[in-house]
Amino acid sequence: MKRILLIALLCGAVAASAAPKTASVALHPDRSRTTINKNIYGQFAEHLGTLIYGGIWVGEDSTIPNQNGYRTDVLEAMKKLSIPVLRWPGGCFADEYHWMDGIGPRENRPKMVNTNWGGVVEDNSFGTHEFLNFCELIGAEPYLSMNVGSGTVEEMAKWVEYVNSDGDSPMANLRRANGRDKPWKVKYIGVGNESWGCGGNMRPEFYSDQFRRYQTYCRNYGTPLYKVASGASDYDYNWTEVLMDRVGNQMNGLSLHYYTVTGWSGSKGSATNFDMDSYYWILGKAVEIEEVIQKHIAIMDKADPRKRIGLMVDEWGTWYDVEPGTPAGFLHQQNTLRDAMVAALSFNIFHKYADRIQMCNIAQVVNVLQAMILTDGDKMLLTPTYHVFEMYKPFQNARHIPLDLTSDEKTIRERQVQTLSATAATGTDGNVYVALTNIDADNAQQVSVDLGGISAKTISGRILTSARVNDHNTFDKPETVRPVEFKDAKLKNGVLTVDMPAKSIVVLTLAK
Ligand code: AHR
Repeated sequence: MKRILLIALLCGAVAASAAPKTASVALHPDRSRTTINKNIYGQFAEHLGTLIYGGIWVGEDSTIPNQNGYRTDVLEAMKKLSIPVLRWPGGCFADEYHWMDGIGPRENRPKMVNTNWGGVVEDNSFGTHEFLNFCELIGAEPYLSMNVGSGTVEEMAKWVEYVNSDGDSPMANLRRANGRDKPWKVKYIGVGNESWGCGGNMRPEFYSDQFRRYQTYCRNYGTPLYKVASGASDYDYNWTEVLMDRVGNQMNGLSLHYYTVTGWSGSKGSATNFDMDSYYWILGKAVEIEEVIQKHIAIMDKADPRKRIGLMVDEWGTWYDVEPGTPAGFLHQQNTLRDAMVAALSFNIFHKYADRIQMCNIAQVVNVLQAMILTDGDKMLLTPTYHVFEMYKPFQNARHIPLDLTSDEKTIRERQVQTLSATAATGTDGNVYVALTNIDADNAQQVSVDLGGISAKTISGRILTSARVNDHNTFDKPETVRPVEFKDAKLKNGVLTVDMPAKSIVVLTLAK
C-alpha cells in the first residue's frame, strides 16, 4: 500500500513539473471608471552621464547623423514610443541649474561644473530652446523641473515668463531675440526636486512654505500651469502628511520617487550578472511600490477626497551598479528581461490607481539607469524596457478595466509575490487590451481570462521573452530581446485561454 502511494506521489510530482501552472483572471468591464492618463508613460531626461550629450544631443557639426543637433536614430526611436511628457533638466541637477546660462548664442554660454554627476564640465549647449524644440519634434509635453534649492524666486518666475509669455514682456522679448517668436506653452512645472535631499536638505515644514512662496510668482501667461510639489521618497509618509496639510490647495500635483534598488550604501548588484534569488528579489521590490502608493494615496485622500491633486511618480525604475569601466557618477547600466518585467509589473500597478496617479516618469530615457535606449558613439540599441513601453502604448488614455487575479505565489525572502500580473483596458480605438506577465522563470502558466461579457472578433498579440532572464541587447546583438507575434491565445464561450511560457510578457488585442 505504502509503495503504491509513493509511486502515485512520484507520478504526481513528475506530472506537476511537466504541466503548466494555472492562473485565472476575471475582468469587470461593468466597474470601469477611470482613464489611464497617458502621462503615466512619461520619461525623464537629466543632465547626467551621456544622456543629453551623446545620447540626445550631438550638435549640428557632429559626424553622427543628426537633425539640428539631435541624433537622428534616438530621435526616431523616441518618436515611435509616443512619449507623452518629458521631464528635464533634473533630478538633482535641476536645483543647481540656472536656466539663463542655457540661452543665447552657444559660444557665449557660461560653463558650470555638474557637481552631482561626476564633476564634469557642463557647457550649457543644450538649454531651454534645445529642450523645448526637441519636445516639439517628438510630440511630448515638456515638464520643467525648476530650481528651488539654489535658485531665486525671481529666476523661476522669469523662466515661466520666458517660455510662456506671448506679450510685450521683457522675457518674451528676450526669447524672441534668441530666435523663438511664439511661446512653447509649458504646462507642467516642478517646484524643486527631492527638496528633502539634493534639492536643499529641507524639512517638510520649511519646504511647504518655500513652495507656497515660489509658486506664487509663477504666473499663468494664458497657459494654466500644473504645479508639482517635490514629494516623498519611498516610505516617507510624514513628508506627504505635512505637504497635504500645509500646501494643499496651492499645488496641482505631488511627486513620489521610488527606485527598485537593494539599498543606498554598498553594492547595488549587477544589471546583468545576477542569480535567481536576486531576480526574484528585484521583482518583489518592484511590486512593493503598490503598498507604498496605497499608503501615500490614503494620506492624500484624507485631505483631498475629491482627488484634485495628482500623485506624480516622477522618478521610478531599477538602479544597479554602473557597468564596469564606466564612471561612477554616470549611472550607466545595462537592461535585461528582468528590467522589462519591472516595467510591466509597475504599469499594471499604476493603472490600478489611475484615479490618483496622473503622471509617472521612468528614470531615465537614454544611457542612464533603467534606460529605453543605449548609445555608444554612433551606435544605438533599444532595451527590453523600451519594448515594454512600446507594447503598452495602447494603454495610454485607455479606460481601465478592473480585474481579479488568482495565481501561484512565490516567497521571496521577506515578500510573497504572485507569479502572474495582469492589466486590462479599453483603448481609445475601442479595442480591449489585456497584458499579462508571468514572472516565473521556470514554469509556463495557462491563464484563463473571463472577459466579463466582452466580445471580440479577432485576437492578436505580441510576446517579449528570451532564453534567460539576464538576456539583454548589445551593440553586436541588438535583437536578442525583442517582441514577436504571439499566437497561443484562444477564445471560447467568453473565456480566453492564454498559454504563457515561463518569464514572459504578453499584450493581447481583442478587436471588436
Ligand atoms: O535619477 C537619478 C537621481 O535620483 C535624480 O537626479 C535624483 O532626483 C534621484 O535621487
